[in-house]
Amino acid sequence: MAVPKRDASFNQLLEYSKKHLTDEESITTTYGTPVPEKDASLTVGYHGPVLLQDWFAIDQLAHFARERIPERVVHARGAGAFGYFEVTHDITQYTAACVFSEIGKKTPMAVRFSQVAGELGYPDTVRDIRGFALKFYTEDGIWDITGNNQPVFFVKDFVMFPNLIHVMKRNPKTHIRPDYDMFWDFLTLRQETTHTTLIFFSDRGIPESFRKMHGFGVNTYAFVNSEGKFNYCKFHWLSNQGIATLTSADAQRIGGIDPDYHIRDLYNAIHDGDYPSWNFYIQIMSPEQAAKSEFDPFDDTKVWPHGQYPLIPVGKLVLNRNPENYFAEVEQIGFDPAHLIPGIEPSPDRMLQGRLFAYGDTHRHRLGPNHIQLPVNCPFSIHNYERDGWGTIHSQGGAPNYHPNSFRGPENDKRARALTPHLPLNGVAKRIDSGNDDNFTQARVLYQRVLKPDERARLIQNIVTWLTPTTSILQERAIALFSNVDESFGKKIREGLNSLSLEQHVVL
Ligand code: HEM
Repeated sequence: MAVPKRDASFNQLLEYSKKHLTDEESITTTYGTPVPEKDASLTVGYHGPVLLQDWFAIDQLAHFARERIPERVVHARGAGAFGYFEVTHDITQYTAACVFSEIGKKTPMAVRFSQVAGELGYPDTVRDIRGFALKFYTEDGIWDITGNNQPVFFVKDFVMFPNLIHVMKRNPKTHIRPDYDMFWDFLTLRQETTHTTLIFFSDRGIPESFRKMHGFGVNTYAFVNSEGKFNYCKFHWLSNQGIATLTSADAQRIGGIDPDYHIRDLYNAIHDGDYPSWNFYIQIMSPEQAAKSEFDPFDDTKVWPHGQYPLIPVGKLVLNRNPENYFAEVEQIGFDPAHLIPGIEPSPDRMLQGRLFAYGDTHRHRLGPNHIQLPVNCPFSIHNYERDGWGTIHSQGGAPNYHPNSFRGPENDKRARALTPHLPLNGVAKRIDSGNDDNFTQARVLYQRVLKPDERARLIQNIVTWLTPTTSILQERAIALFSNVDESFGKKIREGLNSLSLEQHVVL
């Protein structure tokens, strides 16, 4: 049987014991009292019943029974690390955000990489989008960019998101995933998914390592500079380790040997001082350009072409510390697109607008009403009028708990107010399905001009593999969908399907 090579990730306990050679610590209960005998319950004689007064044992069991919290409904499986962001180029003409105030400035950061659809125990090397979530610990509070390793997303209206996720999760009866019928039914009915589907089935659909993939903010945000000038922007993190991907066959083989392949790789690289880094770039679009744009700049199924909106270099992210404890610092970390700092604003991007609500809401469910007070989520001193609730850590002592007040409670921030944009909005409130807004032009550019012939061949092979287990009606719908991108694309998928039998499709 093949097993992973022994490396730093296997020796963590050995390292711990070497660092703690001289410590003599007593075991304590959860309430801090010394435990006389950890490994035996209190019984009446050898075979007698256990006494209810055995608080040491009950304390252990009661805590054990509550060890798990709900896993993330999406992006459950992942790895986290810490480091810093350093400014290398001046972008103060675009934003007054404190992170970018001067060249050389460093801001501490946390990052979590993840896969979308698998649960906590899923293998790392499956075909999926990877999450690329970033937390900046700035002097103006937390700024989160909760992005992905692909520049576009499957759907653009946030109300479609639960549907998309349901078809990528387990079938409600068989409890099996992927369910190919659910998957292809939805993708072919909602054709705005086409562009992202191509990337999903391309080589980039299975990264070789979290270190060797790019990151993208995906949604459109906005910047405000110190004079109040407003621009739309996109965020990009380009890996200095380069891009590396796995073929479906290699991914399946590695996943069988080492399901924690990506988590182990990140841990070992940082442990061994091979710190991964990414260069940070932005794209800028003025409101005037946005008004005239031939594509919808607030549609997350579209990229902003680099020729028209060039990448502007900003700085560098370096990851140089592993978490001290996975649960405390990775399972309990909560990213939120609504965590913005003065100088950075949302745009009308429909998906982003929904996300502004969804993350705080899910954290209140998963981590509790005071999740923001957990050290990894906010190490700052907070001054506000929110009080109490489950798990309060930062009580704010005797400070006034109402506003306005006459007792030196905190007041509105003049700088933040000056940076709040005054946006002219107009229109008629109605529900407009945005699913049929040019779903093929950019997918066609990707297929015809960006992908090389060998990459196109693997893309087709991967699609054929996932289409084989589905019904012929859905296969036909998928062929029609991909023919809209390029007629020969659909034709090659048909040829691929005709040439394979179900037994050949073991590599998913
Ligand atoms: C309205 C649409 C969306 C909803 C409702 C939604 C909801 C969620 C939820 C509930 C979580 C789990 C958070 C947690 O429990 O900690 C999550 C995580 C995540 N989402 Fe979304 N999501 C949406 C769209 C997107 C999009 C478009 C992207 C890509 C830009 C994205 C990227 C991520 C990432 C990277 C994570 C993992 C964060 C982490 O590492 O903890 N999501 N999302």
